[in-house]
Amino acid sequence: MAKKTINDFNQMVDNGEKIVYLTAYDYLTAKMEEKAGVDMILVGDSLGMVSLGYDTTFPVTMDDMIRHCSAVRRGAPNTFIVGDMPYMSYQTSNEQAIANAGRFIKEAGADCIKLEGGGPMIAERIKAIQQAGILVMGHIGLTPQLMGQIGGYRAQGRSSAAAMKIVNEAKAVEAAGAFSILVEGIPTAVGKAITERAGIPILGIGAGSYTHGQLLIYADMVGLYDNFTPKFVKKYANVGEVLTKAFKEYTEEVRKGQFPVDSEHTYGMNETEVKEFLA
Ligand code: KIV
Ligand code: NA
Repeated sequence: MAKKTINDFNQMVDNGEKIVYLTAYDYLTAKMEEKAGVDMILVGDSLGMVSLGYDTTFPVTMDDMIRHCSAVRRGAPNTFIVGDMPYMSYQTSNEQAIANAGRFIKEAGADCIKLEGGGPMIAERIKAIQQAGILVMGHIGLTPQLMGQIGGYRAQGRSSAAAMKIVNEAKAVEAAGAFSILVEGIPTAVGKAITERAGIPILGIGAGSYTHGQLLIYADMVGLYDNFTPKFVKKYANVGEVLTKAFKEYTEEVRKGQFPVDSEHTYGMNETEVKEFLA
């Protein structure tokens, strides 16, 4: 199947077709996701927690993101890829934001970038990157890079005033030139209001069923990452259990001398060669 473009996503919204969005951080996973037919892959800075073992997304660097994003591109050559701008890769200035957004396109083969926030400074960054010719996806609601100000990993927009603030942020991000917005960790009613008022595709993670598309962190939905599971995650598999079981069996078999035994997993040598070799 051909790689989808911004036109396809707009068309899907017009047709009422849901956009399927999933994170990936490496070649193997990306390959499976493309095979499964997801529409869009996010190489999220959740990489920091899921693949690199940090407690937060703060330590993730541009080099980390480029390395993993290019691996995902190699695994999913025909899928639209979103490169997530890590903490402090766009906050400093428009110039910094454009240069780092450009690295995702130039070095990692991403189709667009995503950045967090809905205030005036972020609107300025979105405009600058967009004017440099790069597609920008906004990200509002529960924004992990603003964890300190939000006061922890918790749903946003649960009071009428807070909900209105997020609705206005969505408008500002769209007006700044984002081609799409990801809304995270907000009540269904707020996700619905934003979606109804938007002129661009609205993708949701923990934002209810009314958004134009859905995102999950792949490691959550297959039961690989179990340090913390948000309410909005549905577990479609328990891959963590399957892998641990395989690792255990291997460990036991090696210790007992049960692996390798059969000719199936060993290399042979013809008799004459063996005799000559041992003589
Ligand atoms: O980094 C990420 O995976 C994200 C999603 C959780 C929204 O930004
Ligand atoms: Na992120």
